[in-house]
Amino acid sequence: MKAMLARGWGEPSTLDYADAPVPRPNPGEVVIEVRAIGCNYPDILIVQGTYQHRPELPFSPGCEVAGIVRGVGAGVTEVGLGERVFATMAWGGYAEVVAIDQRHVYALPDFMTFEEGAAFGLAYETAWCGLVHRAALRRGETLLVHAAAGGTGLAAVQLGRALGAKVIATAGTAAKLEIARANGADVCIDYRTEAWVERVRRETHGEGRLLVIGFTGGRIAEVATNRVLLKNFSVVGVHWGLYRQRDATTVRRWMVELLKLAEARELQPVVWRAFPLQRASQALAAIASRESYGKVVLIP
Ligand SMILES: NC(=O)c1ccc[n+]([C@@H]2O[C@H](COP(=O)([O-])OP(=O)(O)OC[C@H]3O[C@@H](n4cnc5c(N)ncnc54)[C@H](OP(=O)(O)O)[C@@H]3O)[C@@H](O)[C@H]2O)c1
Repeated sequence: MKAMLARGWGEPSTLDYADAPVPRPNPGEVVIEVRAIGCNYPDILIVQGTYQHRPELPFSPGCEVAGIVRGVGAGVTEVGLGERVFATMAWGGYAEVVAIDQRHVYALPDFMTFEEGAAFGLAYETAWCGLVHRAALRRGETLLVHAAAGGTGLAAVQLGRALGAKVIATAGTAAKLEIARANGADVCIDYRTEAWVERVRRETHGEGRLLVIGFTGGRIAEVATNRVLLKNFSVVGVHWGLYRQRDATTVRRWMVELLKLAEARELQPVVWRAFPLQRASQALAAIASRESYGKVVLIP
């Protein structure tokens, strides 16, 4: 089979489209013939060697796929041969075939395409983890989403709206703000041209919870703790991957709730473009250069 391999730390342009051994299922694992792969900003970081995990070289990036079950290891009960599924993983998804622990494999509902399934796992799970589990967002509260037209951003906008929040979206172009609006944002702010802090102050009443989601800007932001005290606000970490690793049962429960909302059409993944697997570096360049909105997917 073919896979995109990182043979050293560097930019995504160094990824190599190469032959790799077809994985066989260990007990509890599901082998998936991949039909679509979701791309995420962390894929860029893991290839650069700047992410929190550094897999052994060579490796394939990629945290989510959708496809068809072609093999099951002993003890697999969650899915069966020939079933349409989607799945999440720490890395390894940029491949034609993957083997994944069944705890991270889900039946793909009939109403979702493979592309949508590959775009659902990570972004919506991160949004649920942040908004519901970590921040306990309540109906009637105001939710501010930065980079709101991105993959994670649009998931947060849609979920915030579904949970009954007023959603303020920020993004870097007018076109991206239109997409955020079409996905449920009530207030849209271009943070390249508007003083978004002032505008958010006007729209809210001062207190809040600040969710730390990622460091796309390239710098780890610092928070002055005197301000945390003086203004009664909270700083809340969101590390969905750690829940996935340590508490797969809870993460599966979140997915059940997310799929109910997807069936009710409250959540709908937005796929910007699909690229062939061998053009993964172009797909990741579109995310890094801020050209893309919603999700970018790869097709093996
Ligand atoms: N905490 C978790 O568990 C978790 C899980 C998954 C992802 N993440 C994080 O969530 C963030 C979004 O990931 P994603 O995959 O959904 O990406 P994305 O939002 O689809 O793409 C990145 C967006 O960030 C904005 N951005 C701001 N400064 C940027 C810069 N210097 N370079 C590139 N983009 C910049 C751009 O939107 P504008 O043009 O509108 O500024 C861009 O479209 C990343 O930081 C990622 O690491 C966290």
